[in-house]
Amino acid sequence: MSSTLLAKSRPAGSPETDPSTLSNYRQVSVKHTNIAFKVDWAQQRLVGRVQFKLGLEPSLNELVLDSSYIDIKSVLFNGQKHQFHLAPRAEPLGAKLSIDLNGAAQENDNSLEIDFSTTAECTAVQWMTPEQTDDKVAPYLFSQCQAIHARSLFPCFDTPAVKSTFSIAIQSKYATVSSGNIAPEGSTKKLFGSFFDDGSSDDKVYEFVQEQVIPSYLFSIASGAITSASIGPRSKVYTEKGNLAACKYEFEADTERFIQTAEKIVFPYDWKTYNVLVLPQGFPYGGMENPNMTFATPTLISGDRENVDVIAHELAHSWSGNLVTNCSWEHFWLNEGWTVYLERRIVGAIHGEPHRHFSAIIGWGDLEEAIKTLGESGKPYTKLVVDLKGGQDPDDAFSTVPYEKGFNFLFMLENLVGREAFDPFIPYYFGKFKGKSLDSYQFRDTLYEFFADKKDLLDSIDWDTWYYTAGLPAKPKFDTSVADACYALADKWIAAADKGNFDQFAKSDLEGWTSTQAVVFLSTLSAGLKNVADEPRLAAAKAIDATYQLSKSKNFEVIARWYALAIGAKVQSEYQSLANWLGTVGRMKFVRPGYRQLNSVDRQLALDTFNKYKEIYHPICRTMVAKDLGL
Ligand code: BES
Ligand code: ZN
Repeated sequence: MSSTLLAKSRPAGSPETDPSTLSNYRQVSVKHTNIAFKVDWAQQRLVGRVQFKLGLEPSLNELVLDSSYIDIKSVLFNGQKHQFHLAPRAEPLGAKLSIDLNGAAQENDNSLEIDFSTTAECTAVQWMTPEQTDDKVAPYLFSQCQAIHARSLFPCFDTPAVKSTFSIAIQSKYATVSSGNIAPEGSTKKLFGSFFDDGSSDDKVYEFVQEQVIPSYLFSIASGAITSASIGPRSKVYTEKGNLAACKYEFEADTERFIQTAEKIVFPYDWKTYNVLVLPQGFPYGGMENPNMTFATPTLISGDRENVDVIAHELAHSWSGNLVTNCSWEHFWLNEGWTVYLERRIVGAIHGEPHRHFSAIIGWGDLEEAIKTLGESGKPYTKLVVDLKGGQDPDDAFSTVPYEKGFNFLFMLENLVGREAFDPFIPYYFGKFKGKSLDSYQFRDTLYEFFADKKDLLDSIDWDTWYYTAGLPAKPKFDTSVADACYALADKWIAAADKGNFDQFAKSDLEGWTSTQAVVFLSTLSAGLKNVADEPRLAAAKAIDATYQLSKSKNFEVIARWYALAIGAKVQSEYQSLANWLGTVGRMKFVRPGYRQLNSVDRQLALDTFNKYKEIYHPICRTMVAKDLGL
């Protein structure tokens, strides 16, 4: 590692310090976390008690934790009441919670206990009335902590650099799930003493343990009229009763086979169970890799098992992200790039290499699109390693870039050293950093360590360009065999649009296609039609729907691409139907582009639609759409 280039671009000290936390986590070692909640449905808040088991420098004077819109009631340190101070909010990181230690710190076995409750401003939790759920029999709540929202759920060292085991106890009137395996009855409840014994409720206490060390952003909770069904030997799907059969069908053919395939690529699954919770429509993401309980959008339930790649992705996080974690959101590509890489290896192992490449081609298109959308002002966020210092919001930096640039970086490495040589690197890397959090420089060191005999090859990589240069990387050669049919049909349509003659097309053109092929066809066509004059473009868009009826698809990915094409071509009759659709879906991947498209053709309709539906969106989604609409 003597290369001057590497030395030049390496900051001092690894892993790097996380700029997205206000806590003094570097002076603290968290050994275990006990966390208890009582769900107060009437006031839509969570009343909580958290206990941290800490190792400290005995000379430490103060503990500083992250908090955001939390009411702190009392703080006990090593059994004694201690003074605390909540600083004024500093956006977007929240309010520093400082606790005087008064010389009470010991080297080992410190205990910090905080009683608190969440508030109406909590950004991590969405509360739903029974009417807002599908079955309409009970209220519902669910959390989403990544990236920096755990601090609005409980005071914590809210950085992916801090990981601990957890014991969890949640009292609720309704069925409750969390980030762990179900614990023996009474085993975690008893850790919280008077908290549950105050006679305030006789609702059931749901108990969980997380025996792997996990960061705060992987903590989760959901509660409501949730039922479950088996989808494999170590897997269940959880959802409202009315959707249970459809969810079971969607996932039962693939879940266990994905787990076994991933185990062959990396090493055995370490978390005992792998379950999926299918949420109500308000869930803002496609999926979230909460340990033992992936949270998933109901937009995956299309009846055709065609969105299971999202499950492969969230499952892959069981290694990349959940065992081996980015040390800060500046190195987010280590989580997501690796996960996309593993997801595509799983798909490739099951459906063949051409399908892995097909998925990578789609990703490349998304990457080009994302870099365009981010534009000049978002350019710094198109680097693989981003700079979030100075209080930048990781939610603002979020895009496809760390996913797809990260994937392409790993794919480049695979091609550089050869697949045979790369394969054993995978378990080596995940084994080395299991239970730890790392930065991009430790990743690079590990490559040099593992491929000591290939130093010249690694030296040939332009590290500074890969890590720090904005924009697209060099495009690799992909196998286009699956994509070719989609491209060819799109090209035919573009040629026909110029002539205004669409007789040659028929519904049978798409026979035997997967919905992903339809997606690629529509995106390619959308891009191509941008160069066609307004009138023929409009005629082509109408003819496309008359021929294939893709606007009637049950697959959300397909419908979303149809709207992009139709709105781009100014098919006026689709404006209102896009507006209506935006009232049925909460996944940001669809909601944000939907509003951007509507806004580009009819701002008033976009604003009216947002006003009508904003209450049904998750707080994070609401904030992002408001930003996108310039509100
Ligand atoms: N961990 C992410 C979701 C996330 C990232 C939430 C950052 C909050 C902040 C999850 O694994 C993910 O990437 N989901 C994707 C699906 C995937 C197939 C690319 C999504 O939600 O679309
Ligand atoms: Zn992911």
